[in-house]
Amino acid sequence: MSSRTTPHTVTLGTPLSPASVRVMLLGSGELGKEVLIALQRLGVETLAVDRYDHAPGQQVAHHARTITMSDAEQLRALVLAERPDLVVPEIEAIATPVLEELEAQGVVRVIPTARAARLTMDREGIRRLACETLGLPTSPYVFADSLADLQAAIDHKIGYPCVVKPVVSSSGKGQSKIDGPADVQAAWDVAMAGGRVSHTRVIVEGFVDFDYEITLLTVRAVGTSGQIETQFCEPIGHLQVSGDYVESWQPQPMRAEALRRAREIAKAVTDDLGGQGVFGVELFIKGDAVWFSEVSPRPHDTGLVTLTTQVQSEFELHARAILGLPVNTALRTPGASAVIYGGIDAQAVVFDGVAEALSVPNTDLRLFGKPESFAKRRMGVALAFDADVDVARQRAKEAARRVKPRAA
Ligand SMILES: Nc1ncnc2c1ncn2[C@@H]1O[C@H](COP(=O)(O)OP(=O)(O)OP(=O)(O)O)[C@@H](O)[C@H]1O
Ligand SMILES: [Mg+2]
Repeated sequence: MSSRTTPHTVTLGTPLSPASVRVMLLGSGELGKEVLIALQRLGVETLAVDRYDHAPGQQVAHHARTITMSDAEQLRALVLAERPDLVVPEIEAIATPVLEELEAQGVVRVIPTARAARLTMDREGIRRLACETLGLPTSPYVFADSLADLQAAIDHKIGYPCVVKPVVSSSGKGQSKIDGPADVQAAWDVAMAGGRVSHTRVIVEGFVDFDYEITLLTVRAVGTSGQIETQFCEPIGHLQVSGDYVESWQPQPMRAEALRRAREIAKAVTDDLGGQGVFGVELFIKGDAVWFSEVSPRPHDTGLVTLTTQVQSEFELHARAILGLPVNTALRTPGASAVIYGGIDAQAVVFDGVAEALSVPNTDLRLFGKPESFAKRRMGVALAFDADVDVARQRAKEAARRVKPRAA
């Protein structure tokens, strides 16, 4: 049996003792923080790594380390020094070849697999796998390494409108839509300025005029059969502004055929990536047609809504799945999330309006504890539930609106 399908179950122990199960998070933002809390509840010893001190997850872990995770030497040295049982990537910009090397040597187990982390760290690996190897429907695309290549790709294959993105970036950074020839130079410049690591490569994709887009949280976990089984959460609808998520809700109503195709695509891509854990499969939907967009081999930002909607949030699902425990993907109630942005550039902000926000019925908040605020930085999220998903959306937005970060 290949390592893609071999089920792993961990015997839980006692943190800070020789009998501990030790998990290292690579990336400790708001998503990692919730995974860490879920692991803490199961008595797992946690080590939170990020590129800056006092990252959200570092505040709730047993141990905190600050390194440049895209630096191969720093990453190798840390993993070899700490020897965690599991390494759980939370971000894309990691020196993934080091993880592949250490996994191959049997030093660590990488979640879901080191290969999945490598293939999804840039847009090229996962796009070629999905479209060219698995034959899944995607937008038409070309990779380009210069402004001239980009222009040629648009002229000869992609056409207008189209979308340009750096191959390594997230949350819409460096991404722009091109409506006509006058926009090409600016899109190239934005992509060069916005990539996560120094890269001159971009993907240009045909613009998909979808009706709506979803994240289909897909969980590979050890089932009652003792084998890895695939389970799906209810689809999450979301709204993106400039490539960054501002609102999400669950469930997104879907036609039966579109949901069937969405699950089929999600199953195909997650079967190939393998391992155990949660995957956020991003899909575009128009009528019954479904396009694969991308996949996170980890909890997804739009899935923050599951903190209020599901019996087990995507973070609890991830924690359980990676440890080899059974999962429950059931919806508890429809609900929604709305992002709280910093609004200002300042260190150590304070939050006005929290009581007012929480007086909106059936709402909850997460304030991530980020040490520095930027105007466009995600500092928190408002959550709301209601039998009517539209009511939940209005309430989540209203609660988010009432929270006002300001300089201390
Ligand atoms: N080809 C496309 N056609 C239409 N819209 C697109 C296309 N590509 C991206 N988008 C829009 O931009 C959003 C962000 O794109 P994408 O998910 O590729 O970027 P990202 O930077 O990885 O975002 P994140 O990290 O937040 O998931 C999508 O959710 C979608 O709304
Ligand atoms: Mg995305």
